[in-house]
Amino acid sequence: MSSDTTSVTRRGVLVGGGVCAAAAAVPAAEVQAATPQPAPATMKVGMTVNSAKRELDLDPRTTLLDALREHLHLNGTKKGCDHGQCGACTVIVDGRRINSCLTLAVMHEGDAVTTIEGLGQPGKLHPMQAAFVKHDGYQCGYCTPGQICSAVAVLDEIRAGVPSHATADLNVRPRATNDEMRERMSGNICRCGAYSNILDAMTEVAGRRV
Ligand code: FES
Ligand code: FES
Repeated sequence: MSSDTTSVTRRGVLVGGGVCAAAAAVPAAEVQAATPQPAPATMKVGMTVNSAKRELDLDPRTTLLDALREHLHLNGTKKGCDHGQCGACTVIVDGRRINSCLTLAVMHEGDAVTTIEGLGQPGKLHPMQAAFVKHDGYQCGYCTPGQICSAVAVLDEIRAGVPSHATADLNVRPRATNDEMRERMSGNICRCGAYSNILDAMTEVAGRRV
């Protein structure tokens, strides 16, 4: 057998292979386009949001954060990391603060959700909102809705005697000290570094309520 008929060049393999791949890919794409894609299944979920009953029909993969922002248009709750690391998405569910990016909306059937819009409104601010304004507890404001929801829940936790990581082993009733509030607020990140002013706002409200 001569070398003329058996020689295979690298260029020949690459060109030939490319043609084959292209020939195979075109029909596959056409088949995919022609195949009707099933609509994503949805689930109904009912919850009370800021004291109003809401019914939603959602893709079950929808997070509570996206349900609030994209479906109920409550854009006060912010999406920062979408990974449970920044606290920007904090809302209050049945009295407890949670990261709404880490939970699916369909898990909250029947729950009561409070967002920053439900705490207070211009002209009728929640005491914590008013204290944030008074003490400059924000700069850009992106973290602020989550900070305020968290701060409100933190003072409720302290008043209810819920231990934090710092006080769990001490068997003492928690108090609204600076250390205690800083510890409990540690999941809410502020890139602008407004922490000391946030603490001042919380201290003022704690002095009135705790
Ligand atoms: Fe939820 Fe950052 S957006 S923790
Ligand atoms: Fe800007 Fe907190 S005020 S991130």
